[in-house]
Amino acid sequence: MVTGGAAGIGRATATGFVKEGAKVAICDVNPEAGKTTAESLGPEATFQQVDVSDNKSVNDWVESVMSQHGQIDVLVNNAGITRDGLIMRMKEADWDAVLNVNLKSAFNCTKAVSKTMVKQRSGRIINLASVVGVIGNPGQANYVASKAGIIGLTKAVAKELASRNITVNAVAPGFIETDMTASLPDKAREAMEAQIPLGRAGTVRDIAAAVVFLASDQAVYITGQVIHVSGGMYM
Ligand code: NAI
Repeated sequence: MVTGGAAGIGRATATGFVKEGAKVAICDVNPEAGKTTAESLGPEATFQQVDVSDNKSVNDWVESVMSQHGQIDVLVNNAGITRDGLIMRMKEADWDAVLNVNLKSAFNCTKAVSKTMVKQRSGRIINLASVVGVIGNPGQANYVASKAGIIGLTKAVAKELASRNITVNAVAPGFIETDMTASLPDKAREAMEAQIPLGRAGTVRDIAAAVVFLASDQAVYITGQVIHVSGGMYM
């Protein structure tokens, strides 16, 4: 199950799972993009319109995936938004929207799949954090707080579910070319790229590879970790 799977990192992750032979259920708040992506992924992919910040919407999605497939092996909490602004001018609505879509969503989805994974005695949960959740970023107090929260959630749930053979990890991307970063002015982009030791923005495939690895048999002994995929932005 991949949230926010219609575009960007979510779409690349769903593509990576399909290539590995998995059945993939994506959800997204954007129905047109979601349907198009699911069609392009082929018959092993399904799409449901879900607002991940809405508990009921998430529970309905998990129920329908369970009734279709009877098991849930992997959850990727990927959906995310930005509403940037300096703290002095940040609107309460922008704080709430980012915390709800980026962090409450992970609570909603993790809680909804956890009963099934505990019963199965197996499961993988992979959360999309961000390098800024560790190093901070001016103008993104809401986003940074949500991503730092994701890291805390990852570690707490990893400890709770480890005895049931469920691993919980986070991938922290750096600066990745997607719709989320496309609107940045050239100057801001250049300043960002100057902070990347590997000298380039990342691609969605760079991130998808780490997510697919964490879901694979190779990653069976990794839990509670944050894997930074940022070209060295954080060391
Ligand atoms: P994106 O904007 O390209 O795609 C995000 C997807 O999530 C979109 O399809 C959007 O419709 C969906 N979405 C938004 N709100 C939703 C909601 N309430 N319910 C369901 N779906 C919703 O973003 P991108 O860049 O692919 O980001 C994916 C994740 O990676 C996010 O959590 C983001 O914070 C994180 N990330 C991205 C970085 C980047 O440089 N692009 C850097 C660090 C982290």
